[in-house]
Amino acid sequence: MTVRALVFDAYGTLYDVQSVRSLAVQYCGEKGELITQLWRLKQLEYTWLCALMRTEADFWDVTRASLEFALEAAGIAAEPAPFESLMAKYLDLDLYPEARAALDALAGRKLAILSNGSQEMLDALVGASGVASVFADVISVERAKTFKPDPRCYALVEPALGIAKEEVLFVSSNGFDVAGAKQFGFKVAWIERGGPLGPPSSVGPAEIYRLLRGRAEKLGRVADFRIHALTDLPEVVENSR
Ligand code: 2OP
Repeated sequence: MTVRALVFDAYGTLYDVQSVRSLAVQYCGEKGELITQLWRLKQLEYTWLCALMRTEADFWDVTRASLEFALEAAGIAAEPAPFESLMAKYLDLDLYPEARAALDALAGRKLAILSNGSQEMLDALVGASGVASVFADVISVERAKTFKPDPRCYALVEPALGIAKEEVLFVSSNGFDVAGAKQFGFKVAWIERGGPLGPPSSVGPAEIYRLLRGRAEKLGRVADFRIHALTDLPEVVENSR
C-alpha cells in the first residue's frame, strides 16, 4: 500500500483534551478531575446522539452543552467567567508533546485533519498552535452535517485531497474513530494515548476515561497499525511502500 496522505483526528490525537484539567481544577477544586473526564465523555456521547437523531449540531454547541451537563451533574454552579475560560481553552488546547516533531518529520507528504470540530474551532486551534501551514486541508465534519463515525464524514477526505481512500492513512487515538475509519476503508493507525493496556490502576474519573476511551473497541474493525507516539508514523509510512 502506498500512503499518499496522512489524515489526523484532532481532539485526543494531535491535541490533548486533558489539557483543560488545570483550568478545571482552578474552577472546580477537587472536582476538577471529575469535570475534565465527564465533559469529554459527554461531549462525545452528544455527537453520537445528534448523529443518530439526525439533528444538525455545531461542535461548539455540543461542547458547551456537555460542559453544562458535567457541571450540573457534579453540583457546581456555572459561573460565566470560568465557564467561558474553559470553553476558550478548546480553541487553544495543548498539542501533544511529540506532535510538532512528528508533523515536521512528515513534511513533504500531504497532511490533513478530519475532525468533529466546527471549521471555526479547528481554524482557531490550528492557528493558535502554529501548525496551520503543514496541512493541505483542515476538514470539519460540518461539511457533512453529522459527526464521526458516520461514513459521510470520512467521505469528505477524497474530494478535499483528491486521494482515494485506499491511499489514506488515518491516524486516531479514539477507538470509535478507528473503527469508523476502518469500516469506511482507510488504512488506520491507532495511537494508544491511554498508555499500556494493563489492569486498572485506580478507580478515579481519569482511570474511567482511560479505560473507556483509551482502549480499542471490540467491534471487529482493527487498526492496521498500533503506535505509541506520532513520531512512529514516518517509519509506518516507509514500511508501507
Ligand atoms: C475529533 O473528531 C473525535 O473528537 C475527535 O477531533
